[in-house]
Amino acid sequence: KDMFSWQRTAFHFQPQNNWMNDPSGPLFHMGWYHLFYQYNPDSAVWGNISWGHAVSSDMIHWLYLPIAMEPDKWFDINGVWTGSATLLPDGEVIMLYTGDTDNYVQVQNLAHPANLSDPLLLDWVKYANNPILEPPPGIGSKDFRDPTTGWIGPDGKWRVLIGSKKGQTGLSLVYKTTNFINFELNDNYLHAVPGTGMWECVDFYPVSINGSNGLDTSVNGPHVKHVLKASLDDTRVDSYAIGTYFIENDTWIPDNPLEDVGIGLLLDYGIYYASKTFYDQVKKRRILWGWINETDAESDDLEKGWASLQTIPRTVLFDQKTGTNLLQWPVEEVESLRLSSDEYAEVVVTPGSVVPLNITQATQLDIFAEFEIESLTSKENISNDNIDCGRGSIDRSDFGPFGILAIAHDTLSEQTPIYFRLSNTSLGSSTNLFCVDGTRSSKAPDVEKRVYGSKVPVFSDEKLSMRVLVDHSIIESFAQGGRVVISGRVYPTEAIYGAAKLFLFNNATNINIKVSLKIWHLNSAFIRPFPFDQSQ
Ligand code: FRU
Repeated sequence: KDMFSWQRTAFHFQPQNNWMNDPSGPLFHMGWYHLFYQYNPDSAVWGNISWGHAVSSDMIHWLYLPIAMEPDKWFDINGVWTGSATLLPDGEVIMLYTGDTDNYVQVQNLAHPANLSDPLLLDWVKYANNPILEPPPGIGSKDFRDPTTGWIGPDGKWRVLIGSKKGQTGLSLVYKTTNFINFELNDNYLHAVPGTGMWECVDFYPVSINGSNGLDTSVNGPHVKHVLKASLDDTRVDSYAIGTYFIENDTWIPDNPLEDVGIGLLLDYGIYYASKTFYDQVKKRRILWGWINETDAESDDLEKGWASLQTIPRTVLFDQKTGTNLLQWPVEEVESLRLSSDEYAEVVVTPGSVVPLNITQATQLDIFAEFEIESLTSKENISNDNIDCGRGSIDRSDFGPFGILAIAHDTLSEQTPIYFRLSNTSLGSSTNLFCVDGTRSSKAPDVEKRVYGSKVPVFSDEKLSMRVLVDHSIIESFAQGGRVVISGRVYPTEAIYGAAKLFLFNNATNINIKVSLKIWHLNSAFIRPFPFDQSQ
């Protein structure tokens, strides 16, 4: 079917076929960014989990490599699950991953590259005496997974975290080691939050509170805060908090207990899970990968023959202006795909109107839009503080919603509104929302359609702005320089190929908006198999 072939993306990483989930063990080695991923070689649904492998010199143009690790040992025969890489100062690469054993017990295993001088790291050797960790007393055999990247303390010992739960309390165990073979379990958890359930894919890293670079995982000191992220198995979101790490006893506390891990901020308010960062030693930045699942029917995935995407990798920084959240932004390398661009200056959109933008082939775009607000009544001092993204873009109020309609058909029969909704016109003091309305993104009946969104901090000296990456069936939206991110999948039946258009809309009742935009067409990344020399 036409619409199924249209859904395949052009510059997001996805395998040639079949199922993918979590990014695993991302790292940079000898000129190549390596991405491993949870992969089913046999089908477009989860199962037979192996480590798929690809390399890139810019994290945008990828070359597929042979599978790095298959489930072929008793300690991972039911799945080579998610793990992380630790680069040691002597150049060694340590790969820790979870194995699902012949008995369905979750254990942690060690693997090494067979040949460190191979830039492609094609062959991986599993340590013969795996597992190196089994579930400790009191931890369920199915609640022990996803080892983090290690960091080293002043005592010369490496620390590694494993996610777990006790009852409904999500938690992170801390292990210490000098050789990644023998480990001691700390008495303290790094952190635990009641009611949050199983913590999968825990991630833990420093961020600089006054610099503009990312930090390597072992960096600590007075100008550093630590981010703790857990993927919540129960609610399928990636939740993070910023706080302080106490190296004396390997514990961490959030700056704001009301926004603790599992009850506070999300890395992405859309479809997004099992994310993982790594430190890019070349460009001194911390890069965030995240898995974007399908939200169509499983039978459609089987028919398409593939399922899931990775996001465009994002740099992660501490937001020095708010001091309370991270900033995520697509890696600059995505800009190398920019082809022609269209610019619009101060397009006025009046209440209740839709303005078409004359963009042909609006299926591969990088959009940057800034919005100014013109009050039409004296209502600007009225504050609608109880607003939410609730019923989507049809839900009109004084100061919103307004924004863009992506992957929209001429007749607006299918459209995905990406929008702001303000509680009043003085940006700095209000509760502003950034939302994506997926409820009319597709006419297909068996597609999940929801409204996504969050509050977004805006200062009075800032313009409202959004950056939106459109790539066929995925839309990644960044508000206010990446304070809030919403990613979602779209499965239009009519707004495909040349019929996919872009519009501005204003559904507020008491403001005009003035929109300035720059819109780039993005080239395809032509992701393909590594061109091995066939003559050898
Ligand atoms: C998260 C997860 C991990 C596990 C892996 C298995 O999506 O469930 O906890 O290691 O996927 O594929």
